[in-house]
Amino acid sequence: MKLFLDTANVDHVREIAALGILDGVTTNPSLVLKEGKDFKETVLAMCELVKEVSAQVTATDVEGMKTQALEYAGWHKHVVVKVPMTTEGLKTVRFLSGKQIKTNVTLVFSVPQAILAAKAGATMISPFVGRIDDTGGDGMLLIADILEAWRHYDFDTQVLVASVRKPEHVTRAATMGAHICTIPFAVFQHLSQHPLTDAGLKKFLDDWEKTKQS
Ligand code: G3P
Repeated sequence: MKLFLDTANVDHVREIAALGILDGVTTNPSLVLKEGKDFKETVLAMCELVKEVSAQVTATDVEGMKTQALEYAGWHKHVVVKVPMTTEGLKTVRFLSGKQIKTNVTLVFSVPQAILAAKAGATMISPFVGRIDDTGGDGMLLIADILEAWRHYDFDTQVLVASVRKPEHVTRAATMGAHICTIPFAVFQHLSQHPLTDAGLKKFLDDWEKTKQS
């Protein structure tokens, strides 16, 4: 499973990328607003750190989306154009697919949406699991359903688990066989930790001390 960071914070990408385990980054307008930095500079800096950086179009009509998408794709070869799951977005994805430009269809909340995006030629789709959880559902069941549908066909489209809120989402994404999981920085920091690891290491070090060996 590819691991992405869900952020517009370049320092956070640099920190996780330094571990050598980061495959990509997803940004969106809300994350860009939160950081308050120039969008193009942010995307370009991230493209130097990882191989796939999703940059979201903000136009809502197909011509506007195409124009923005072509501009973003020209910034750097690591840019993945993020397009919303609308009919205009699907037309844009089909157009970009014909030009071998990578796309990420965002705001996917159903299996039919996932299928339409795949048939339009999306490189990846982003079902938002946390936002489904927020409404009382279980977002990971949508991932399970999409992956089940994928088993019957030969879609190349990668399923990217988005709107992750907790390590359990990452666990379930991996056990289901999702292709990618995009993870907020705060959640990513928890992934390497376990209280039994800490307790076990403390015991080992204490016992080593008692051996009086160096
Ligand atoms: O990048 C899109 C997605 O991950 C958004 O997450 O937490 O705003 O629902 P969230």
